[in-house]
Formats: sequence, structure tokens, C-alpha cells
Amino acid sequence: MPMKSADPKVSLESVDRANYRALFRMQLRPEQESFVTPPRWTLARCYVRMFGDNFEHLPYLIRAPGGDVIGYATTACDPASDDDYWIDDIMIDATHQRMGFGRAALREVISMIAARYLRCRGVRLTCFRANLNAAALYRSLGFEPTGDVDPEFSEPNYILRGPALDALIR
Ligand SMILES: CC(C)(COP(=O)(O)OP(=O)(O)OC[C@H]1O[C@@H](n2cnc3c(N)ncnc32)[C@H](O)[C@@H]1OP(=O)(O)O)[C@@H](O)C(=O)NCCC(=O)NCCS
Repeated sequence: MPMKSADPKVSLESVDRANYRALFRMQLRPEQESFVTPPRWTLARCYVRMFGDNFEHLPYLIRAPGGDVIGYATTACDPASDDDYWIDDIMIDATHQRMGFGRAALREVISMIAARYLRCRGVRLTCFRANLNAAALYRSLGFEPTGDVDPEFSEPNYILRGPALDALIR
């Protein structure tokens, strides 16, 4: 899938003690708040290794080209698996939405996963049924519903694999 020339370049930065406070400045529109785990919880999920001890949990800040923090993403990946590589959370701050940053950030996260975990043949996520905008974004990148739901929220799971995944890996 070719990258649109208008896609902005974003970068991922590991969350650490020097930058974690930027997470707490991120805000969503009220109707979006139930779609993603808020910053304190997203960090806690990484700290307690929510998916299990065999999963590596990584939190990232998303930075815009000028350096501003515009969102965050967390991943939970089992490096010994073929396709247990999850984007647990991803969000773009409300004031920066609809500028292409969400699509660009997803590409970066998927590229990071593929580069870090060489066994990866599938990237997964859960998207709430009511989150039509996010679902449209995921489908446009090649994610497909798996037909099952996640045990925590009973919301649909999606997977990106095969040629659609290959096309996004740099
Ligand atoms: C979902 C989210 C990350 C998208 O980020 P974004 O920077 O606004 O997305 P982009 O500008 O890159 O848009 C990508 C696509 O998303 C869809 N989309 C995003 N916001 C939309 C809106 N308000 N209305 C319609 N479509 C929308 C469109 O398909 C869009 O593609 P298009 O521009 O070709 O129409 C952002 O809306 C968000 O943080 N939402 C709240 C948290 C959330 O739902 N996270 C995902 C949990 S599964």
C-alpha cells in the first residue's frame, strides 16, 4: 500500500522517567474517552504486564514533525509467537486529530513491531464496535476482523497479516 505523499512523518519515543508527564496532557473528545485506556491506566497495564509475563509491554509517545507530543501508543508482544503482537492502545490528542497523524502513527508502530520482532507475521488490536472512525482507519490499512472478541471488553479483534502487513513494513 503506497504511502500518501500527504502523510505526515511522526516518530515514536519510548516513555521514560524524563518524558512520561507528557502522557497526561493528552486529551480526547468526551465521546471518545471510553475507546482507549487513559494514560495512568495504560502505563499501569505495561508495568504489571497485563497480557502475561511472556509479553513485552512497551509504552511510546507519538511526536509530530516539529517535536510536539501528540499522542501515545502501547504494544504488548509475545516475541516467541507468530502472530501475538498487539497494539494495546493508540490515540491522537483531540486538537491534532484529522491531520493524518493517526494513520502515520499506526504505520510507525507496525514498522517498529516488525523490526523489533522478526518472527511477527500478524499484528492485532481490539476496536470497540462504536468506534467507527478508528475501524475505518484500521480497515483502510488492511486490518480484518478475526471473528472473535477480546476477553476484557467483549469487543471485536482485528488482525493485519499477509500482503497487507508486508506492504506496511519498510
Ligand atoms: C482513531 C484516531 C487514533 C485517528 O487519529 P487521527 O489522527 O484523527 O486519524 P487520521 O487523521 O490519520 O485519519 C485516518 C482515518 O481515520 C478515519 N477517521 C478519523 N477520524 C475521523 C472522523 N472524525 N470522522 C471520520 N473518519 C475519521 C478516516 O478513515 C481517516 O481517513 P481519511 O482521512 O482518509 O478519511 C483518533 O481519532 C483517536 O485518537 N481517537 C480516540 C482514541 C481511539 O479511538 N483510539 C483507537 C482505539 S481502537
